[in-house]
This record gives sequence, structure tokens and C-alpha cells, in this order.
Amino acid sequence: MDMIVPETERLQFMQDMQTALSQTPKRISPKYFYDQVGSVLFDRICELPEYYPTQTELSILKSHAGEMAECMGENADIIEFGAGSLQKIRYLLNVARNPARYVPMDISGPHLKAASAELQTEFVTLKILPVVADYTNPWHLPSSIPGAGKRIAFFPGSTLGNFSPEQAHAFFQNCVQHLSGGALLLGVDLIKSPAVLHAAYNDSQGVTAAFNLNLLTRANRDLGCDFDLTQFAHSAFYNAPFKRIEMHLLSLKSQIVHLNGVAYAFEQGETLHTEYSHKFTIAGVEQAAHLAGLQVGSFWTDPQQYFGLFWLQIP
Ligand SMILES: C[S@@+](CC[C@H](N)C(=O)[O-])C[C@H]1O[C@@H](n2cnc3c(N)ncnc32)[C@H](O)[C@@H]1O
Repeated sequence: MDMIVPETERLQFMQDMQTALSQTPKRISPKYFYDQVGSVLFDRICELPEYYPTQTELSILKSHAGEMAECMGENADIIEFGAGSLQKIRYLLNVARNPARYVPMDISGPHLKAASAELQTEFVTLKILPVVADYTNPWHLPSSIPGAGKRIAFFPGSTLGNFSPEQAHAFFQNCVQHLSGGALLLGVDLIKSPAVLHAAYNDSQGVTAAFNLNLLTRANRDLGCDFDLTQFAHSAFYNAPFKRIEMHLLSLKSQIVHLNGVAYAFEQGETLHTEYSHKFTIAGVEQAAHLAGLQVGSFWTDPQQYFGLFWLQIP
């Protein structure tokens, strides 16, 4: 794998890791999971029997893609945020009415480019414009295509759940500002039994643990840190009052980690928080969307109501 990291990206990671290690509690953005290894590990998570969100969302897409395509209309200009391996969009592209373009956006550049090249071999005439970008930074979307239909944003995988409620509100507001007259097709994980949630983030093969710990491998490789991977453990649990899975890297002993010549202490049992994965109620999503100025349209779910896809109109 080509692991050359652009210098601006490396410096941003350095700065964010310095901040993460200096604060209490220690915390870093989940976006740093996704180097090339992290993106491949995430694909493996999606195939785990315990990780119901991917299979459930795919089953909903399989059953209702035709209705979603109806909502999109002719010549839609489709943008996908956090597009990953571009598996889910295939269901929509197969039934979309003459889409004008597909713009997958993701922070994991080489992975996105490889996935886009593969998709192009399947959808030979479709205009595919991959954009490597961080959607938590100010948005610069490609200009719209003359004569194209509505701008449709697809945000699957419950990636919205990685945001705090304030960040989710800001994301919705960005949609309102940049996708006027279009819509957001949003996939979110719904609240369910804590046992099911717990199993999904603590799989028996240890793939989620490897995904979490890869963040430290990345810091050692790209930033010259000296995290001892045998002395940190994956920790994921459901925090019911906040309706979220929390993922942490747990220090198994008191230890010192170095970054850029500075020593950072971890107490035994202290954690580096790496990810929130908020879980939602249908009413909660509708209320949050409404508050940001989106209009709630159709809603699709599975028989167990494990996962939901919302059609949110942007005025
Ligand atoms: C939970 S995965 C979901 C992948 C895929 N959409 C799916 O539903 O299976 C999150 C995706 O968002 C991307 N991502 C995470 N943070 C990002 C950011 N700040 N900006 C852009 N992409 C980001 C990751 O690289 C990854 O592909």
C-alpha cells in the first residue's frame, strides 16, 4: 500500500494529537481512524455478523431504492458524504433516472480513488467526480452542472452519529446552505437493546479492536509517537443516558508517550476517547432536521426498526 501522507495532513494530525494528549479527558476525532489500513478494516467490520448496521441499511436500500429514486427525480446530481467503499450507492445508481453526476466525498483519499475507479468500470457512462475532503471543514462543493436536476446528498452508515448534537446541527445547516432545492437521504442507527449494540462494537474476531488500535499505529508511523500497542486496549460501551456507543483506547498501566519530543502521561485506566456513535429515535431525527430547516419527507426502515433512512427536503 502507498502510505505517503501529504505534509499538510500530517501537520494537522500532529496538531490534533498534541491537543488530544494535552487535555483531560484525552480525545481525538474519529476521522483519524481512516488511513488506508483503517478504511480496509472498516470494510471488514461491515461484513461482521455482529455489525448489523451495514446489512440492515443495505436491506432497506434493496427494498426501497425504487421509491428513493422517485424522490430523486430526473438527472439528479448526487453527492455522498463519507462515501467509503461506495457499496451502498450502487443500489441507488442502479435505479436512478439518468443521474447527471455522482460526487463521492471522503477523507481517506487513496481508498476513495480506488473505489471510484472500480465503480466507473461498472457505471461506464456515469460522470464520477471523487472529492477528497474533510466535511468538518468549510464545504467547497463542485459547482452544479448546467441542466442537472436536484442536488441530492446521501449520508449513510449512521456516520452522523459520530457528531455531537451541535456538530450534527451544523452539518444539517451546511446542507441547507449548500444544497438548496435538493434533499438529504440520511441513514441512521436507531436505539435498540444495549446487548445488540454492545456486540456490534465488541466483535468476537477483534476487528473493531484492530480498527480502534490502528489509530495508535498511525500515530507511531506518521508522527513518530511511541505508543506501546500491547499496553492499550480497545474499550467500547453503550452510554445509555447519552444514547451513544463510546469507543476509547484504554491505558493498561501508568505510562508515558512521546510526541514531537514532549512527554504525555497516561494513568492506568485512563483513556484516549476515539469515537462517539450516537443512536437515534425517529422523532429525535425529525426534530433535529426540522430545527435546522429541513423538511421531513419519507422514512424507510427494516421490520425490527434497527436502522432508518430519512428523506429530508431542503427548501
Ligand atoms: C462509518 S464509515 C461509513 C462508510 C460508508 N459510507 C458506509 O456507510 O459504509 C465513515 C466514512 O466517513 C469517512 N470520514 C470520516 N470522517 C470524515 C471527515 N471528517 N470528512 C470526510 N470523510 C470522513 C471515512 O473515511 C469513512 O469512509
